[in-house]
Amino acid sequence: MTKNILVTGGAGYIGSHMVVSLVEAGYNPIIFDNFSNSKPTVLNRIEKITGKRPLLIEGDIRSESDLDKVFTEYKIDSVINFAGKKAVGESESDPLLYFSYNVEGTIVLLRVMKKHGVKEFIFSSSATVYGDPGYDEFDETTPLAPINNYGLSKWMIEEVLRKIFRAEPNWSIAILRYFNPVGAHESGLIGEDPNGIPNNLMPFISQVAVGKRNHLNVFGNDYPTADGTGCRDYIHVMDLVDGHLQALKALKHQPQLLTVNLGTGSSTSVLELVHAFEKASGKKVPYQICPRRAGDKAAYWTNPAKAKTVLNWEAKRGIEEMCADTWRWQSMNPNGYED
Ligand code: NAD
Ligand code: WQD
Repeated sequence: MTKNILVTGGAGYIGSHMVVSLVEAGYNPIIFDNFSNSKPTVLNRIEKITGKRPLLIEGDIRSESDLDKVFTEYKIDSVINFAGKKAVGESESDPLLYFSYNVEGTIVLLRVMKKHGVKEFIFSSSATVYGDPGYDEFDETTPLAPINNYGLSKWMIEEVLRKIFRAEPNWSIAILRYFNPVGAHESGLIGEDPNGIPNNLMPFISQVAVGKRNHLNVFGNDYPTADGTGCRDYIHVMDLVDGHLQALKALKHQPQLLTVNLGTGSSTSVLELVHAFEKASGKKVPYQICPRRAGDKAAYWTNPAKAKTVLNWEAKRGIEEMCADTWRWQSMNPNGYED
């Protein structure tokens, strides 16, 4: 029988790609979103890609009654929780917002799940939970020491999940720690549509290439890396959502708690990404070197071994495809979902 997967935050960047992949893999995703960082029009795009229009419910994960309605009306088999806030700077200026959206919201969600006997849960964590351990290749045994409130909120939810599993070992939980998700669906119909000035590198580069911004500010070229700019493990969003499909298969409602990093295992510098994007788009990306951004580590990437063993998953797409797919989305939709 077709499985109903509740995708909280399913209208957002990663969630919308997840919904497409779930439909294509034969699941029935149900989107639950409060549109605080997305637009309901994404549904038209998902329908165009898949030929199916998934159910979309407007609601807030912090509201027990919003969630209760969904779990009462539909038999939910599993929950993938993307709903939350993700801007590091904002988490420093408004910690309560982050603890409310991310931590309180997820606790309410878990409570409602428990009430309705749903115990399969996939959680969007982040490499940010590792902070700076003093080395660059992170595996799942790397100590957890987040250095900002966003990372702390992810760590707190992880702790809640570990404690729930210890007390009630019949839960089936996957904690997936994402490295740097970029790219878009190959159709160019869905992609990342940040509000205002992008915080992250890839959307900033693509907005420069499309002419929305004059130049990129490169935050530091004096790091101990090959070209002096910061290095990250960028992962194509379609590879990332494939990792979730593999996690669903691995969980299979069997009691367990999996913790897995999702990244490629290699890292790319800011200037390497700029040059790859110029090549993919045929556009110039002017940049200027600025001081380092506070809180940035020079370089880090995942050791992808556990994902391969536990999920039978590894990233397939390289930097060229990440840039080409981002460019297709950006050039087809210069104003994101507003067009
Ligand atoms: P996004 O902002 O595009 O998507 C989040 C979605 O959740 C949005 O549609 C938003 O409207 C919705 N939402 C937020 N708060 C909600 C609430 N209280 N109730 C219901 N819906 C709510 O972000 P994204 O990039 O797709 O990230 C998805 C998840 O992955 C987040 O939890 C984020 O922290 C995590 N993550 C993202 C990255 C990244 O770089 N994009 C990296 C690591 C982890
Ligand atoms: C990448 C590199 C910057 C912007 C963040 C979050 C992390 C995760 C992913 C959610 C760094 C440099 C950036 C710019 C630049 N999100 N840069 N100019 O900081 O690795 O990770 O997003 O979980 O939690 O912290 O990603 O894309 O911001 O930066 O030079 O305008 O690009 O210094 O070296 P980051 P990023």
